[in-house]
Amino acid sequence: MADGAGRRWEPWRVATERALYGPDGFYRRTAGPVAHFRTSVHASPLFAEALLRLSHATGLRTVVDVGSGGGELLAQLHEWDPALRLVGVDVVERPDDLPARVEWSAAVPEVDGGLLVANEWLDNVPLDVAVRTADGDRLVLVDPCTGVERADGPLPARDAAWMDRWWPLRLNGDRSEIGRSRDTAWARALDRLGSGIAVAVDYAHDAAHRPSRGTLTGYREGRQVTPVPDGSCDVTAHVALDACAEAGRRAGATETVLTTQRAALSALGVVAEQPDSASASVDPGAYVAAMVRVGQLAELRERGGLGDFGWLVQAFETPLPAALLGEQGQL
Ligand SMILES: C[S@@+](CC[C@H](N)C(=O)[O-])C[C@H]1O[C@@H](n2cnc3c(N)ncnc32)[C@H](O)[C@@H]1O
Repeated sequence: MADGAGRRWEPWRVATERALYGPDGFYRRTAGPVAHFRTSVHASPLFAEALLRLSHATGLRTVVDVGSGGGELLAQLHEWDPALRLVGVDVVERPDDLPARVEWSAAVPEVDGGLLVANEWLDNVPLDVAVRTADGDRLVLVDPCTGVERADGPLPARDAAWMDRWWPLRLNGDRSEIGRSRDTAWARALDRLGSGIAVAVDYAHDAAHRPSRGTLTGYREGRQVTPVPDGSCDVTAHVALDACAEAGRRAGATETVLTTQRAALSALGVVAEQPDSASASVDPGAYVAAMVRVGQLAELRERGGLGDFGWLVQAFETPLPAALLGEQGQL
């Protein structure tokens, strides 16, 4: 839709879809996510260790990594357990340096008895944005060339219903990021899993902690920037992970855990002990390795950082480890 001044206006979901995944989109051109931001996967192999522990504890020998980016998680799992079946799913091309045994696909394959992992995928699923105005809740339109916004007409009924349930607005200027598209994406991925466990890890909030002005933002070369959906930067928004959890229950999840990364890592037994300084002279290599582990785990558990990420774990006819089940509802 263009206005009298020739400016084009689009809903955020449409503009973001093209900006990230269109023929010239950010993820089609970029040299891999690691060039623009650092996820838990890049921060430390202890993130992969957590998932390996989950695979071993449950006997799930296939790992499907949805939104696998540069494939670093799968490469690490392959190094530790070469007999695992590993499948990367991404719209970007298979990374050149991925071990040959790791499969790669543009769509989630059908898997019976798998561990499906989605680290920082859902925050990149495009969504629409609503704003409270004096006239009520309105869909936000954006000029994809500049990121300038304006309020449009009333919301489609299904978006209004999602907001009523998950993210109602109170004051003029408050914004809601309508996670319906994320719920659908998550449920579709789960539909491919006959039995097994699915884990989504992401920047998250729940109904008790919605950010009243929203979280939509951009990233370019490691810096946070104004989100302009022109393909020059990543466009991302935190995930209403409780809404995704409900979509997963509707898709047949038999058990659900929603917790923080900090709690999930502990429950899976990813721990690190400060080494005794006296051991430094006895076995300097082991001392340094233990110190590195302590530092890496601290980053994955950090308050105000990666430790606050949400872990949504949903099981399908597969028992979850008891320690993880004990973390129920602590996001
Ligand atoms: C923020 S990156 C995360 C990469 C990786 N999981 C990590 O932790 O480093 C998000 C990835 O999701 C991918 N992605 C987004 N939508 C997708 C879709 N519908 N199907 C497959 N991959 C998708 C993007 O191409 C991108 O590589």
